[in-house]
Amino acid sequence: MRAIWITSSAGPAGLEVRESPDPVPGPGQVRVRVRAAGLCFAEVMAAQGLYPDRPKPPCVMGYEVAGVIDAVGDGVADDLVDSRVIALTRYGGHSDVVCVPAGQALPIPDGKDFEEAAALPVNYLTAYHMLFRVACVRPGERVLVHMAAGGVGTAVLQLCRTIDGVVTFGTASAAKHEALRAQGCTHPIDYRTADYVAEVRRLTNGEGVDVVLDSLGGADWRKGLKLLRPVGRLVAYGFANLASGQRRRPVHVLSQIASMPRLTPVQLMNRNKSVCGVHIGRLWDQIPMLRQELGEVLALWEAGRITPRIDATYPFVKAADAHRRILSRQNTGKIVLTP
Ligand SMILES: NC(=O)c1ccc[n+]([C@@H]2O[C@H](COP(=O)([O-])OP(=O)(O)OC[C@H]3O[C@@H](n4cnc5c(N)ncnc54)[C@H](OP(=O)(O)O)[C@@H]3O)[C@@H](O)[C@H]2O)c1
Repeated sequence: MRAIWITSSAGPAGLEVRESPDPVPGPGQVRVRVRAAGLCFAEVMAAQGLYPDRPKPPCVMGYEVAGVIDAVGDGVADDLVDSRVIALTRYGGHSDVVCVPAGQALPIPDGKDFEEAAALPVNYLTAYHMLFRVACVRPGERVLVHMAAGGVGTAVLQLCRTIDGVVTFGTASAAKHEALRAQGCTHPIDYRTADYVAEVRRLTNGEGVDVVLDSLGGADWRKGLKLLRPVGRLVAYGFANLASGQRRRPVHVLSQIASMPRLTPVQLMNRNKSVCGVHIGRLWDQIPMLRQELGEVLALWEAGRITPRIDATYPFVKAADAHRRILSRQNTGKIVLTP
């Protein structure tokens, strides 16, 4: 097998493609020949040593793949062989072959391709889980999402379109605003040249929003809380502000951690606001819930109501360029890796 190894915390420069023997599926597992794997922001942070869940290097990350089952372990039906599936992997997805528990693989609908399939699991599960299970967005509500042009951001915008009358505010670089509107964003905001807090207030006559989906962290969590209307929900689901370019900068990391809001339940009670956390990677063993949510995402995909936006596809040997594209904030939508 071939896989993309993180060999250090040097960012893209520390990635290497290495060969090793193929894994054998254990009891209850299926083995997937990977045709496409998703690249997530968490893996880009992991390569810089900024992702707490990263195993000690050398390690192979990769939360999601699409491919074909070519072998099954004891206790798994033989007729699954040759099925086209998406699979949740933790980790090892950045390989041309990976074994997963059979319950973590779901069939790809007929006529759908592997690259789009690989772009679904993490981004759309995260977006779906936040919007429908945690924040419970209702028709007509206002939702602010950060990193709106990224993989999760575009998934959020598309899923918001499936709820009547939801108004979306998305922060992204100005060059991506047309693409954002095409994904359903009502109000793209260029956070690089404008104060997004002032902009949201202006667009809502000072009222603010019902839901903030914040993957930036640090001082942005503080700002998000201020933007919430009564009964508003802030969902914290990432800390991208820790990344400050191609390399880790410890002083920057510390200043971001210091700028987080300090909250008490009494403050939240008195302000009628909620703060929720979502970390899909730490729900990987909640298979019934994830299968149900992913099943609903697959049904929306099959019905043509959502379509993953692929920014670019890179072969494994160009994985460092794929990481650099995200770190230099060039992508709109998902980056996919192919063996
Ligand atoms: N909790 C969970 O379960 C979960 C699951 C998936 C992802 N996440 C989190 O969700 C966030 C988005 O992930 P993603 O995979 O959708 O991201 P992505 O597709 O890699 O998005 C990257 C884009 O985000 C913007 N950005 C804003 N701040 C950035 C920074 N400091 N460094 C680089 N890019 C930055 C850039 O676009 P602009 O220039 O247009 O702003 C960039 O092009 C990340 O924080 C990730 O960790 C969390």
